[in-house]
Amino acid sequence: MRLIDSPADLQRLTRSLPRPVAFVPTMGALHRGHLALVTRAKEVAAGSGTTVVSVFVNPTQFGPNEDFQRYPRPFEQDCEKLAGLGCDLVFAPSAEAMYRPYASVIVHESSLSRTLCGASRPGHFDGVCTVVTKLFHLVQPDFAIFGQKDFQQLAIIRRLVRDLDFPVEIIGVPTVREADGLAMSSRNDYLSPEERAQAPILHQVLEAAATRVREKTVLSPDQLVKWMRAALEEAPLANIDYVAVADPETLEAKPTLTPPLVLAVAVYFGRTRLIDNTLLESIDG
Ligand code: PAF
Repeated sequence: MRLIDSPADLQRLTRSLPRPVAFVPTMGALHRGHLALVTRAKEVAAGSGTTVVSVFVNPTQFGPNEDFQRYPRPFEQDCEKLAGLGCDLVFAPSAEAMYRPYASVIVHESSLSRTLCGASRPGHFDGVCTVVTKLFHLVQPDFAIFGQKDFQQLAIIRRLVRDLDFPVEIIGVPTVREADGLAMSSRNDYLSPEERAQAPILHQVLEAAATRVREKTVLSPDQLVKWMRAALEEAPLANIDYVAVADPETLEAKPTLTPPLVLAVAVYFGRTRLIDNTLLESIDG
């Protein structure tokens, strides 16, 4: 497995990489969710291609009061895990190498990023779109793999690729969960034992809400949101950021409960913000 930290070195090398190139952008602290993305990348690289993973805690997607400083950075363990999966190349630049002094160009998605996490984390998706654009230019992948846990991020990246004509196919991979249903996240490690015990409520409420939609025991998005809020509040340590019933394409609030729709939640446990979602593509699933 090759390790590169210089954007210029990577850009020089990219031209000669065996294709297809399958790329997984990460911020490191790799868990089984990330490893599922890398496994998918290996599949699409199909033996003769190249699997590239970036490990970069991107400062521009963190707000001033967010967890950039304390975000876990177990780089050696990450490299061991990636080597074990047969990853070909790891790109791990420093922030100084990625962002030049007085960098003044940002990539701004102006529609999908206004709601859900975008409303709670101003500027977050500008940071994501800018770094993903830079990474796509450096890696020049044929495929890029993202988790469906960050449903809004995936929708925005698909829009970025469509609107800016990146020759990259975006692949979404289902959320990997702990045995009790909690979605895998590097931020789960911040939870105290009491918070960790209550955190599976996100998935439980989403599943129960999806059943209510399928069985038509709720009639409107407003009624569903109200029910989900009350169910989440059953966990004493849960502090709701948002509960939404949205169109999976536009991410706007749905006026009816007719699928396709995405049920999405963001909940604080102490200072730790957890997100999860469930997609209903049709009334059966
Ligand atoms: O999902 C993430 O880990 C990050 O938002 C990403 C896509 C690696 C960009 O920094």
